[in-house]
Amino acid sequence: MNSNIDLVLFGARGDLSARKLFPALYQLDRAGLLGDSVRIAGLAREAISSSEFIEKTHENLKKVVSKSAWDEAAWQRFSRRLTYIKVDFSQKKDFLALKGWLVEKRTVIYYMATPPSLYGSISKHLDAAGCVDSLSRIVLEKPIGHDLKSSRDVNSTVGEFFSERNIYRIDHYLGKETVQNLMALRFANRMINSQWDNTCIDHVQITAGEIVGIEGRWSYYDKVGQLRDMIQNHLLQLLCMVAMEPPNSLQADEIRAEKVKILRALSPIDRDNVLDQSVRGQYSAGWIDGQPVVGYMEEQGSESNNSDTETFVALKAYIDNWRWAGVPFYLRTGKRMKAKVTEVVITYKDHPHAIFPDKDSGAKNRLIIRLQPNEGIELEMFSKKQSLKERLSLEKRTLNLDFFDSSGESRIADAYERLFLEVMKGDQWLFVSREEIEASWRWCDTLIDAWTDKKVATKSYGAGTWGPSKADMLIEKDGRSWHGS
Ligand code: BG6
Repeated sequence: MNSNIDLVLFGARGDLSARKLFPALYQLDRAGLLGDSVRIAGLAREAISSSEFIEKTHENLKKVVSKSAWDEAAWQRFSRRLTYIKVDFSQKKDFLALKGWLVEKRTVIYYMATPPSLYGSISKHLDAAGCVDSLSRIVLEKPIGHDLKSSRDVNSTVGEFFSERNIYRIDHYLGKETVQNLMALRFANRMINSQWDNTCIDHVQITAGEIVGIEGRWSYYDKVGQLRDMIQNHLLQLLCMVAMEPPNSLQADEIRAEKVKILRALSPIDRDNVLDQSVRGQYSAGWIDGQPVVGYMEEQGSESNNSDTETFVALKAYIDNWRWAGVPFYLRTGKRMKAKVTEVVITYKDHPHAIFPDKDSGAKNRLIIRLQPNEGIELEMFSKKQSLKERLSLEKRTLNLDFFDSSGESRIADAYERLFLEVMKGDQWLFVSREEIEASWRWCDTLIDAWTDKKVATKSYGAGTWGPSKADMLIEKDGRSWHGS
């Protein structure tokens, strides 16, 4: 890998940098994966010196990184890469200090851990200060816009200064080990891929349930809601990974082109079917792990007692193409749910004729791809119950393809470690293209318009449950049920 790389982190004193970015970079260094000459500059408005910044980063890392992963020698090496540059992102002249730090003929990666409203102006100031050349890359965190129009505006402004090949749009779900493993599972295993269509699969469920609420982000979250925060990006990316056709190769362009096709094939949820295919929810007070928790409207920072922002969404989506015609994809995500679970569950159809009289009709083969907790893949199958008393009875057995156990690694890398590595390599396969972002906004905009049009209000659900009862009805009216709830 090219190690002549300078990493410039905008928002280096923010929450994302503290929780995810610096820990990921430290772990890469500890694993020997950061090239020797990689330099890292943290940028923020705070008037502190480089040595104060390094000290604060040290304190933070010692809190965030587990004791078993702490390595003083690795920290010493890592700290020598760090510099702090005080920059007010709205002040063009401040960018000259950054220009002074850059060295010619090195690849610079600008990482935007800032509010998205600043992406355009930061790009402009970078360019004006002479900090952008054909080697410079920019990494954008979500959300890119809040609808199709605003996402186009962000993409166009950044696109004036960086070519699409140098723009890395993060969806951190793509950095998760299990999401990449989904590609291996599908495209490296003939027996799985040959059973991967509407002749064999009954339906697909994608669940991302979180125990946490909105974690002090009321003023941001209330304008956004769960559809824009989770479905538009993470859940639709998971759906693409499940549904896309085999790419021609593992090249980024090939993979991204297949994902775009799926997003464009999503059947619209519009005013005609929105009541049947979607549910919005908002949590009220309840209990989680034996502790009382407040409702959404009473959350810290709440600015309203009659907000109708959704903290839960359940959808039934269809993909209008040859492979998936007629197969429902049930998506469900919410805050303050009963458990932290992110999983994809593929349920297979029954055989056309049943010969085992004791096989319960609800018992079907299932492939469970779990992102968290306990990342892994399970296949639920049936085999003969070992018994002399019974003639040929069945029991459900689970084949566990737990890749963690066999990897020999002591921990699973965080998504951001993988994503940093790929940006440094200059490989966009785990990043979202402009076409993908726009196709997914187009679909979400139609749904949001239908919610407004049909006045689809949120249904209340108690914190610590699996969402409003209407979400159960959404799937149960089709004779199916949510996995694990
Ligand atoms: C973020 C959302 O993108 O993903 C958060 O903005 C959410 O609201 C988070 O909590 C979930 O990520 P993970 O990796 O914990 O499932």
